Amino acid sequence: MKKLIIFILAAAIMVSIAACGSATKDSANPSSGSSDNGKDVLIGVSMPTQSLQRWNQDGANLKAQLEAKGYKVDLQYANNDVNTQIQQIENMILKGSKVLVIAAIDGSALTDVLKKAADNGIKVIAYDRLIMQSEHVDYYATFDNFKVGVIQGQYIEEKLGLKEGKGPYNIEIFAGSPDDNNATFFHNGAMSVLKPYIDNGQLVVVSGQKDFVTVAIQGWDSAKAQARMDNLITAYYADGTKLDAVLSPNDSLAIGIIASLKNAGYGTADKPYPILTGQDCDKPNVIAMINGQQSMSVFKDTRVLASKVVEMIEAITQGKEVPVNDTKTYHNGVKVVPSYLCDPVYVDVNNYKEILLDSGYYTEDDLKQ
Ligand code: BGC
Repeated sequence: MKKLIIFILAAAIMVSIAACGSATKDSANPSSGSSDNGKDVLIGVSMPTQSLQRWNQDGANLKAQLEAKGYKVDLQYANNDVNTQIQQIENMILKGSKVLVIAAIDGSALTDVLKKAADNGIKVIAYDRLIMQSEHVDYYATFDNFKVGVIQGQYIEEKLGLKEGKGPYNIEIFAGSPDDNNATFFHNGAMSVLKPYIDNGQLVVVSGQKDFVTVAIQGWDSAKAQARMDNLITAYYADGTKLDAVLSPNDSLAIGIIASLKNAGYGTADKPYPILTGQDCDKPNVIAMINGQQSMSVFKDTRVLASKVVEMIEAITQGKEVPVNDTKTYHNGVKVVPSYLCDPVYVDVNNYKEILLDSGYYTEDDLKQ
């Protein structure tokens, strides 16, 4: 049985890499012959922050893969400050970038600077987060954000046996930053699975706080998530009411939630940690999974997303057809942005070795306590 599960997982990873990773194949194939074409072409890469592991990996993967193809890369991190990001993008335009790859801090704050990019004939790829309110977003490369939420919801559904009619269980709900378009997709995806159980009483949100605006955490900030969890525990669980599950949309929030639970004495036989979801498979969170503090995370292989974006850039700079696989989901308020959606997969303590170690994403040393 175990072997069968491992086989199915391995097959699923292969399929997901194949689904997103044809660029990886091309780059290994000398006959695709693009390695010289990038010479002297400058690509601007604007990342939101270095404070989260994933964006460092995204930036590093993009830079390495683009440079391997002969492109010049201007990689900047904006310290989660919107004005810094705008200035950095303006500089990239001045320096003569041909393509801009942007993971926006505030998805709706780039309308003016993207107009300048378009006036200069620069193509723009929104990276991971959709850029809103601009006609000058040419492509979007991301993971299937709704599916990320569905995977989190299904994990809770399965672990609590909700399909089998078990319950009632107590749950609290968190959502990501309201200025990040992804946050709504994650929330809606998870709630598409959980809401029927809330409606029929198998899940009880003891605080009653469940709509996106109420549960969103500005800036994906761990400390803010911790503060909200502290408040929830004090107000609704201090009397011994059992907390069975917490829906966290990503790992930075999960870190804050774990800190709060730990401070409140969770993690004992009498008061076990609730089921807790996450996303990104950041190192501290994988360690938390191994330690039984976090139940799962959604893995979005940044190598795969970077490969896809490199493939898009090659197509743009060579005047070829740009690969997309979704032309209806991501409306940015002005238009539907042609998108390429990669496939996310869930990781927990039972499969992290196959997915994260065997694939070379982490080494054993990375996950030392
Ligand atoms: C990304 C997540 C990340 C979050 C916080 C989202 O836009 O899709 O992977 O955890 O931002 O940085």
